[in-house]
Amino acid sequence: MVISGDLVDTPTAEEYAHLKRLLEPLALRHVGIPGNHDSREAMRTAFPEAGYAGSIGPLNQCMAAGPLDLVLLDSSVPGEPQGRLEAATLDWLEATLKAAPLRPALVFLHHPPFQTGIAHMDRQNLHNAEALEAVIRRHPRVQLVAAGHVHRAVLTRFAGVPATICPAPSHAVALDLSEKYGPSFAIEPPAFHLHSWFPGTGFGQLVSHHVPIGVFEGPHPFFGPDGRLL
Ligand SMILES: [Fe+2]
Repeated sequence: MVISGDLVDTPTAEEYAHLKRLLEPLALRHVGIPGNHDSREAMRTAFPEAGYAGSIGPLNQCMAAGPLDLVLLDSSVPGEPQGRLEAATLDWLEATLKAAPLRPALVFLHHPPFQTGIAHMDRQNLHNAEALEAVIRRHPRVQLVAAGHVHRAVLTRFAGVPATICPAPSHAVALDLSEKYGPSFAIEPPAFHLHSWFPGTGFGQLVSHHVPIGVFEGPHPFFGPDGRLL
């Protein structure tokens, strides 16, 4: 499970301790990447077991998930809401993607490298998206670019590959495409993305499911024991 940034809010050590308590019962292997509400130093302290690429600077990580590589980029700019990939991160990404050209890779970062049409969020997206695009276009093994930050499910293409924004388990940024309201949020059904990968020719096939969080009725069977439609 990848938490695509803004693990906490202000950020304090107490907030990271609270997050770790919330995640404790989770059986899945999980990892967080920094967003604009996070602190690199506080994350290094809170997650000493994390395999960050360097002992100082951006918190980049590459993790194997079976036959896939999860490439986790730190797009945070300390003290700023917008995102930017540092030169060290871009160099690391190039080397990481080059290291295993036949393994499918999913790239995660907090700040979307594309517009959403929600102006106040677009002003604080990834400010050097063209640098990321140039790297990704050199490496066909990238099968997905997945972002956070906007708290809404969004689907587009970036650098020739599918690109998503994951919806949030908390509030949603209001879907305001005409700057009618100014920066605002709405309480919408919380959700997450489940990315499934199937082996096949080339890099296989990635399928992304939108999954609402909650307790819902069902599943109800379509067919009875006699095989007839209920
Ligand atoms: Fe954010």
